[in-house]
Parts: sequence; C-alpha cells; structure tokens
Amino acid sequence: MIEKKNNHFEFRKNVLHAEEISILELAKSTKTPFYIYSAGALEDSYNSLVYSLKELNHSLYYSVKSNSNVAVLRVLSLLGAGMDVVSSGEYLRARKAGVPGEKIVFSGVGKTFEEMILALKQGIRQFNVESIPEIYQLNLAASKVNKVAPVSIRVNPDVDAQTHKKIMTGKAENKFGIPIMLAEKVYEIAKNLENISIVGVDLHIGSQITHLAPFKEAFQKIAKLIYSLRNKGHNIKRVDIGGGLGISYSRAQGDPIPLKDFSSMLKSIFGGMDLEIQIEPGRYISGNSGLLISSVIYLKEGSSHNFLIIDAGMNDFIRPALYEANHDLIPIVSSMDEDPKIEVDVVGPICESSDVFVSKAVLPIMRAGDLIAIYSAGAYGAVMASEYNTRPLVPELIVKGNMSSIIRSRPNLFETINRDQIPYWLR
Ligand SMILES: Cc1ncc(COP(=O)(O)O)c(C=O)c1O
Repeated sequence: MIEKKNNHFEFRKNVLHAEEISILELAKSTKTPFYIYSAGALEDSYNSLVYSLKELNHSLYYSVKSNSNVAVLRVLSLLGAGMDVVSSGEYLRARKAGVPGEKIVFSGVGKTFEEMILALKQGIRQFNVESIPEIYQLNLAASKVNKVAPVSIRVNPDVDAQTHKKIMTGKAENKFGIPIMLAEKVYEIAKNLENISIVGVDLHIGSQITHLAPFKEAFQKIAKLIYSLRNKGHNIKRVDIGGGLGISYSRAQGDPIPLKDFSSMLKSIFGGMDLEIQIEPGRYISGNSGLLISSVIYLKEGSSHNFLIIDAGMNDFIRPALYEANHDLIPIVSSMDEDPKIEVDVVGPICESSDVFVSKAVLPIMRAGDLIAIYSAGAYGAVMASEYNTRPLVPELIVKGNMSSIIRSRPNLFETINRDQIPYWLR
C-alpha cells in the first residue's frame, strides 16, 4: 500500500513550509489572503488511491468541481487522471489542462442543450444522465451533430450517506438521479433512442462520507440492478461509483475510511462482475493538498468573547459558514509551548454573523500582521469563493519542491467594479 504522506505542509525551524518553501517568505510577495496548493500532496493522494484499486479494472475521473484551477487539473492529468465535469466551463478547463474529451465524464442534473453539443463535438467518454427529459434532449442533441452519445444513467439508490445534509445526494428526497425503482424503465426508453448508446450505470450518494456502510449499501443495490439490467439485454460495461470518500479535517488523524477497506469492499461487490469501475473523487485528492493563508487584522476584546479578526472571510472560504465545517487553524510561526495563549473566535471581516472560522480556539496571542493557515482548504475552497462585500477573488499559488507559481492572480479591484455599468437613463 502506498501511504499518503502528510508532510507536504511542515514546520521547519518554527516556520510553516509548503514543500520546500517558507510560507512566511511567500507572503512577503503575495498579499494575503491566498490559497496555496502542494503539487506533491495532489500527486500523493492520487497515487495512493489509484494504487489501492490496482487489483480492480478501474479508471479515475477527478471531480473538477472540488478544485478546478487548470494548474491543479494539469498536475493530475499528467498522472493520467480523467476528469468528471458538471458544466461546459469545467469541460473547457479540463481540455485546457490537456485532458482529451474521451477521458471526460459529464455529470450534473441540469445539462443544457448547448453543453451537450459542445461535449459531443469535442469528444466525451460518457454522459451521466439524471432524468427522462434529459435523455430525450441528449438524443436530440446527438442527432443534430450526427453522433451517438455514450450514456450511463445516474441512479438514486435512496441511501443515507451519513454526512452533512447539504452534501447528501443519494436519498429519495434529493434532486439527483433517477429513483432506483424507475431505473429499468429509463433504460428501456434509452435503448430505443437512436442516438443514445448505453454504457453503464452511475451513482453518487454524497460527499465527505466517513463510514463504509452507506457506500456498501448503495453499491449492493446497484450490483443487483446491474444483474437485472443485463438479464434484460442492456449492455452494462461500467459502473461509475461517484466520489464521496471523506478526509480527515484534523491534522492529527488519517483517512476516516482506510483505502484498503474501501477497495476490498468494491472487490467483494463488483469483483466477479466483468465491470470497469469508474471513480470520481474530488475532496480525497484536493482537500488536504491546500491551505488558505490569512493575516490577522485585529485582536478585539468583546464582553464575553475575544475575536481574532483575520483578512480571509466567508466569501473566500465558505465551508465553515455553509457546512459548519471545522478546520485546523495554525499560526505560521509556531510559538513556544510556554508562550501565553488566549481563547478566541477566529472571524473574517464580512458583515455577516456567520463569518466565523472557529469558535473558542485556544491560540497563542497573535498581533496585526501575523499569519495564520487554515488547513484542509484545497477542496471546495477557491472554487466556491465569491466577491461578496466587493472583495476581489482570492489568488491561488502552487508549489512543487522549491518552485512556486501564482496560478490565479487577484483581480484588480477596479476591474471588479468596472464590470458594472450605469445605464444611460441613470446618467
Ligand atoms: C457527481 C459527483 N461526482 C463526484 C463528486 C465529488 O465528490 P467528493 O469531492 O466528495 O469526492 C461530486 C461532488 O459532490 C459529485 O456531485
């Protein structure tokens, strides 16, 4: 088993480094807040996952939505990863990173006609189709460009993924997929459409899943469905099991689901079925490969709480506000154990009470300008950032050994403001 290393972000002589590079030094030339990714960490998590699946006929499609920076996609595409996309924008990012259309899977509950045409013309491995109207629309799009669209139907197995309710996707009440009891009917419809070719079955029950049981329950239901579909003459060559593998958000812990347990479960369910297993991990690869670096603006004493106000806000990193996510927050220069500590709520500058990164953290006393790292910010971080409060999008950097590069720069504030226009009748 290839062990996933956790030493891509390490303290050296009391200063946090990303691979070989001091974050203190980086922050002298790049204004905080900024994201920083480790190419080595991306490579390690990709390699350890692929290695764990080596006894299975498998292929991997990185879920672009978790971190879609083209440089991140490039690191993974150079290792051989395919991509799972949910929009034409993500599709074009994958292409820009050098991924051929034949290694791109198109997921998503609301693909438009134009998106279908784009992917059909440029090449696609499969569409994961989520509704009856979508299959008719795809058939029409494919006939318009004289192609046959390869299709897996996304099935909703009605399984509780035991994760946060906002990232649960495999229960009957979620908008995703076709209810499992209707799946066979949809396969019959698809079979009779001239420009559709069935290639497999797809599911994705949620994200940040930390127990094996929900995966197992869902995959067992899907295996049963595949037997039944094959008996009815459908050509099911692949099962796309989605993403969802959870990560540890605490630096001290390893993966919540050991990869060897995950792969043996897959083997026990799908092993003898002559199927290609496709996996669409996002967070597992990108989550622990990135940090958000921020500076302290003020330490403010309240009547009941102290507030450490930092320059990153919920617009830059929304996971704590949206999902009640807990991330480790660590000063970039480590203090001596005997240095005085203080209990603080670490908050951003946004005018919302939900702009809180952590409550009641015990941290060394920090002053204006001191740097702090928000850990495990590589997935669903920069991709979900907004310009709320008219704050330009946060920049992104990547390091590899002793090299560092800006991979998305901070837009100039006036570019942001000048996108708005005053109509002639208000001048
Ligand atoms: C269809 C699909 N596949 C894969 C993923 C990736 O999930 P994760 O980042 O949890 O691996 C998602 C994310 O929600 C998804 O919607």
